[in-house]
Amino acid sequence: MDERKKPGPAKISVKHAVNTELRPTMRPGKRRPSESEISPSRIPRPRRKTQRETIEGIVAPTQIFQPSDVIDGQFEVLTLLGEGGMSQVYEARDLRLDRRVAVKVALPGGHTSLSREARSLARFRHPSLVTLHSMGEHVGLEYLVLERIFGVSLAKDLSGRKERQRPFGVRETLRIIELLAEGLAVVHRAGLVHRDVKPGNVMLTADERVVLMDFGLAATLHAEREAFVAGSPPYMAPESLAGTVQSGQEHLIDIFALGVMAFELLTLTRPFPGTEMVTVREAHRIAAPSLKAMRPNTPQALNDLIAQMLSIDPAQRPQTIEEVAWRAGSLRERAKERISHEFERPVAERVLVVEDSDTIAKVLGFYVTDTLPKADIIRARDGLEAIEQLRTRRFDLILLDLQMPKMNGIEFAMQARGERLLGRCRIIGVSAGAQSDDIQLLHEIGMQRFLRKDEALRKNLGETLRAMFGAPPPKE
Ligand SMILES: Nc1ncnc2c1ncn2[C@@H]1O[C@H](COP(=O)(O)OP(=O)(O)O)[C@@H](O)[C@H]1O
Ligand SMILES: [Mg+2]
Repeated sequence: MDERKKPGPAKISVKHAVNTELRPTMRPGKRRPSESEISPSRIPRPRRKTQRETIEGIVAPTQIFQPSDVIDGQFEVLTLLGEGGMSQVYEARDLRLDRRVAVKVALPGGHTSLSREARSLARFRHPSLVTLHSMGEHVGLEYLVLERIFGVSLAKDLSGRKERQRPFGVRETLRIIELLAEGLAVVHRAGLVHRDVKPGNVMLTADERVVLMDFGLAATLHAEREAFVAGSPPYMAPESLAGTVQSGQEHLIDIFALGVMAFELLTLTRPFPGTEMVTVREAHRIAAPSLKAMRPNTPQALNDLIAQMLSIDPAQRPQTIEEVAWRAGSLRERAKERISHEFERPVAERVLVVEDSDTIAKVLGFYVTDTLPKADIIRARDGLEAIEQLRTRRFDLILLDLQMPKMNGIEFAMQARGERLLGRCRIIGVSAGAQSDDIQLLHEIGMQRFLRKDEALRKNLGETLRAMFGAPPPKE
């Protein structure tokens, strides 16, 4: 019999009972943790989960590997990229092939099996699924070598959006659902279910991919029933929490989880509150709240699609992930037509303000929202931070200060252009004392406009933005 057809239920349920989203540092033992161990008081978690304070207040790392460690004589560790409940993921350089990769290492003491994950991943090749290069064992620890994804995890993006109260737009949400559904279609067709679809396992990249990763819980369709009490509770389907998943219906739990995510992207809240199994199960007693009531501009067809995906009764959900992909795709086409009809000009949805002074950054943000009230404004303190931002997401406009520490505006523009990070993004230079040859150079490397920081800045910026993005003139 196929090795994959033997799921290890005990391993799976431990990871799941302990919602890795909320308790990433958990080192699972053999014991199944109690419900109270995943109490919501543990959120928000500290950002650097791998470090802890010592008595002297010095931060002691608990990383398995340190920068410059070489794994198996081939992979030189660069930095820690992230971690879930069972593993750490490092950026590394493959010294033989001279390329950057991501190395996922199982935490010692855990009983997760990366080889299961590897065997699932090895079956696929799709832009919405992380690509596995190889696997191995080093100092007794299993590791996977994955393509290095340059982007931001959807969980991280969402938490920033929650702080700024900026939900995802309808079109962007539809794009994310469609691409993830296409990736999941490949998984389901291969006879597997992912079972851990959630924002922490999705990455958004600057080149517009939406990548599903972490196949640590992937299981075979038609597996034993017990194996299906698994998942991160807030994204788990009712039948999954209750352990009543029907054989052959396992893929419907991925559809439910994708529905929870879509709802969360659009409203910044989850349809079924709670983080513990018991509270989420309680929440499933009533149907999901109406999306349209929380966000009135939601198209009716999108409201209906998500409501169906969130049906408590699995038989009421769209029955295949292909149907979800197809419906999201056709809705996106319609949304595009409507939008291109409404505005002929480009829109400025996301604006990067690159400015070292806090006060000026705030004022610039305020001036931008004067003209573009819907723009999502993100701040970078210097050129280096701005490059990092551009590597992880697409911007429509950059307001660029020229004199900054670390990396100035010109160096930034050169590097961004050299790395092809700008795409169709426009740049407006803003400076108090720039030399005319600097301004000339900036025009040559892609700056569209230059504005002086003086008392006319507000008015000039407003006019420039209206010309660029076609916003209506200010009301008198
Ligand atoms: N291939 C990759 N490229 C870049 N970052 C990654 C990659 N794989 C994982 N990560 C980062 O590591 C985090 C944990 O990875 P994941 O596979 O979800 O581990 P776990 O099974 O422990 O949850 C992710 O949220 C992401 O931030
Ligand atoms: Mg994960």
